[in-house]
Amino acid sequence: MIADFLIVHLSIVAAMAISVVYQSGSGNWKAAQGITSGFLTYYTAFFWLLSPIFPVVFLLNGFYTHSRGYTGPYKTWIVLRGVLLAAILFFAANFLLFGRERVGRSVAVPFVILASVGLTAARLLKDVFVRRYEVKPRNGFALQNGHGKVLIVGGAGYIGSLLVERLLDKGYKVRVLDSLLYGDEPLQPVRGNPDFELMVGDCRNIQDVVKAVQGIESVVHLAAIVGDPACELDHQPALETNYAATRMLIEIAKGHGVRRFLFASSCSVYGATDLEMDENSAVRPISLYGETKVDSEEVLLTSRTDAFHPTVLRYATVFGLGYRPRFDLVVNLLTAKARQESVITIFNGEQWRPFIHVRDLVEATAMVLEAPIAFVSGEIFNVGDSRMNHTLSDVGETIRRVFPDTAIENVDNSDRRNYRVNFDKLRHRLGFRARHSLEQGIRELKKAFDDGLILDYTDPRYHNQRFLKIAGSPAHKTDFDGLVMAAFSAHPNGRATAATTHR
Ligand SMILES: NC(=O)c1ccc[n+]([C@@H]2O[C@H](COP(=O)([O-])OP(=O)(O)OC[C@H]3O[C@@H](n4cnc5c(N)ncnc54)[C@H](O)[C@@H]3O)[C@@H](O)[C@H]2O)c1
Repeated sequence: MIADFLIVHLSIVAAMAISVVYQSGSGNWKAAQGITSGFLTYYTAFFWLLSPIFPVVFLLNGFYTHSRGYTGPYKTWIVLRGVLLAAILFFAANFLLFGRERVGRSVAVPFVILASVGLTAARLLKDVFVRRYEVKPRNGFALQNGHGKVLIVGGAGYIGSLLVERLLDKGYKVRVLDSLLYGDEPLQPVRGNPDFELMVGDCRNIQDVVKAVQGIESVVHLAAIVGDPACELDHQPALETNYAATRMLIEIAKGHGVRRFLFASSCSVYGATDLEMDENSAVRPISLYGETKVDSEEVLLTSRTDAFHPTVLRYATVFGLGYRPRFDLVVNLLTAKARQESVITIFNGEQWRPFIHVRDLVEATAMVLEAPIAFVSGEIFNVGDSRMNHTLSDVGETIRRVFPDTAIENVDNSDRRNYRVNFDKLRHRLGFRARHSLEQGIRELKKAFDDGLILDYTDPRYHNQRFLKIAGSPAHKTDFDGLVMAAFSAHPNGRATAATTHR
């Protein structure tokens, strides 16, 4: 605040100096002399107006509270908006109070430019300084936000394997706990990285979980039986992995001093609705998968303490190339079909879905991990971008732009999933914007096919349900695990959960 105060006052003094030079240069000696001789009178008048107006407007714009955690162009926009608003109020007050002594254009314009540049540059420099000189203690725990050791449960999957890579790039130490249901290939790119550690284990096994959380500051929990069809295949492992194991993991993480806990939920918790849903909207899951997410969210949010900070991330539907591209997701699947078979079937084309490129999702997750705790603790975020809500017909048309020879068949079926989601909270609070459009993701997949990176998209390892159907249900390590999971199946308050009603 003090720095902002000084920047604003230095800007007005510099603007007056610029105005004197400008007036003298254009031969307007009288005006130049007027500003010079009346400098103290002017400045004293400005001082009493600038001093309250700017800090109050900045405060109301969240400069010192929520927008501190913003990054990138959105942060710049917030600063510019605050400066412009304060400047307009300042000029208006000046005019009303001092009439003739109002600020001339030759002072006003440089003042607004200098204040905007100064306030934005100060924030950028601070970010650079903090990043460069951040102290990292030897035990891997950060003093401030992030950069402690992160445990990614389910880190060998489509999203997890890219998140692991991104966090390692950012300088984190990363441990993965994963039962490698679909193999370890997605983690090949990070094997050998000294900051990476893989623990092959089951998040339903208490010993694996206790070992995995040792020395961990933050947990990102992605492990699940993912998708409606995969969960319907066999309720028992879905209920245990998606709900009971989450509950156990929360308790063990809390007991071992984990500070942050990010949970991967899904926008599918909103079910079928014509309204645009935000984080305050009622949830109405229409599948077992969605129900397990809702139950886990509830347990997680009630687990918050002063030392344990949970955050629920309701992910949009992912698309794009990763180390385990899933071809059981609509955009990826339709792209693959268009590329290989030149015909795609769109089911219920008028239904809306929010989409997000897998790398954008990873970026958003990393942003939440690094955000000041007060901004994210106990919060739910829809993770996506409001510009990326599309109907399934839109998806079909976008695919046809990339593969012009594609024939589109439209079919209606009983799938009722329809939801349009509002992602403003994530944008406003953390400044997240998606960088990849649907078309970019589709072109990227096309290139992967063209380059021979994906040979057969129908291979079961790219499809959760198909894979589990062939490999069989993921069994417990021991019978004891079954008993532990049964104990964690009930809701802590005793009410029914998906895990108690769907057995
Ligand atoms: N992909 C999407 O579009 C999407 C959308 C919304 C939410 N999500 C959520 O994001 C998370 C990650 O999704 P994904 O697409 O990467 O899924 P994925 O199926 O590719 O990955 C899941 C990972 O969890 C692991 N796993 C499963 N059971 C386990 C167990 N018992 N113990 C340890 N590891 C286990 C699997 O081996 C796999 O590596 C999930 O929680 C999912 O519900 C994904």
